Amino acid sequence: MVLQKIMDDLEKLGTENDQNQSVKSKKYLNITRDTGEFLFVLVKATGAKKILEIGTSNGYSTLWLASALPENGMVYTIEANPQKVAEASVNFDKAKVNSKITQLVGDVSEVLNEVPENVDFIFLDADRKTYTTLAEQLCNLLKNGGLLVCDNATSHRSELEEFIAWLNIQDNLSISLVPVGKGELLVYKGENSLKEILNA
Ligand SMILES: C[S@@+](CC[C@H](N)C(=O)[O-])C[C@H]1O[C@@H](n2cnc3c(N)ncnc32)[C@H](O)[C@@H]1O
Repeated sequence: MVLQKIMDDLEKLGTENDQNQSVKSKKYLNITRDTGEFLFVLVKATGAKKILEIGTSNGYSTLWLASALPENGMVYTIEANPQKVAEASVNFDKAKVNSKITQLVGDVSEVLNEVPENVDFIFLDADRKTYTTLAEQLCNLLKNGGLLVCDNATSHRSELEEFIAWLNIQDNLSISLVPVGKGELLVYKGENSLKEILNA
């Protein structure tokens, strides 16, 4: 099936399901279309080959990430909800990008150690309460010169305050908030960070 049609169908499904579904764990909570396009451009522009995504849901955002990768690229995507894992797998088959996706099933705290080191790109879109606890491990997994993108940085800013405070005191991280979709926090890991340059 053509990717455009798959994306259109998933957007319709996501909107209808999430409007009618009162149980939060059964909502898809997909990123917005413009966030998907933004992620696609970022993956292309950074030349990322190894991506970690936390929060697969039914695979909408994963499809954007995987579509931007070269043939030898890989998205490691983590999801705890088995129903969503199964739905995502069907969507990856339909889009014929399953050779570029490794689904890791379970709580992020249990499966993060299965992700190979030196990832080029991290997309964070799961339980925001866990981010501060995960922060150090995520930064260690990210290669020097890598980019972490965190969704909901505007829509749920207050829930990310502790995480952002932690990011802000790391000398090797440069941070920028981009007003796309629900707010995308861009975190670049590398020497000569924004704060080092500003305070030199
Ligand atoms: C906002 S949704 C992800 C949406 C997806 N990125 C998209 O745009 O299509 C968050 C997902 O993270 C999963 N999740 C939340 N906490 C998790 C955890 N601790 N470990 C693994 N998955 C988790 C939820 O089950 C849910 O499917």
